[in-house]
Amino acid sequence: MRALVVYESMFGNTAAIAQAVADGLSTGAEVTLTHVADAPTDVPPDVDVVVVGGPTHTFTMSREATREEAARRGGDRTPGGIREWLQALPTGGHPQDFVAFDTRVNMPLLPGAASHSATRLARRRGFSVTAPEHFLVYGYHGPLIDGEVDRARQWGQRLSQQLAD
Ligand SMILES: Cc1cc2nc3c(=O)[nH]c(=O)nc-3n(C[C@H](O)[C@H](O)[C@H](O)COP(=O)(O)O)c2cc1C
Repeated sequence: MRALVVYESMFGNTAAIAQAVADGLSTGAEVTLTHVADAPTDVPPDVDVVVVGGPTHTFTMSREATREEAARRGGDRTPGGIREWLQALPTGGHPQDFVAFDTRVNMPLLPGAASHSATRLARRRGFSVTAPEHFLVYGYHGPLIDGEVDRARQWGQRLSQQLAD
């Protein structure tokens, strides 16, 4: 099985989770881990699963304005995010499975998550989607709460088993 992991990250937390998910997936798959700025919009046909992760910004995936806000708070400035990448993918059927993850703050009552929006968009693009997962950070900048990197690695490993079936 081949997996493409695409991520976006301003403060490094989603990048750390993406690396851990890729490590977990690599127990059962050949994995390419790519920052969204370098991700191909023509997903190679030999890829079996596309895994996409990004930070939750204003209850959904980032936009130009929220990335600007993150940059003002000291985050990396990136020209596009997973929203723009998914929007640039061709419409119509995709042979790959799709699964999303996000990072978000550790506050139980906050609604919305980047991974839910990404999953909806991927479904509209014709992917066969699997339930998304969330990973938690302290405050706006992180760090990740204890145990999240290990949980991400285990989630990646479970995904590789589940999607190989
Ligand atoms: C502009 C902005 C809006 C945010 N909005 C939300 C939000 O609606 N819900 C939430 O849980 N976290 C929100 N956050 C916190 C981010 O989810 C957090 O910065 C992110 O998980 C860190 O990931 P990163 O280090 O990969 O950028 C927001 C952060 C920024 C910068």
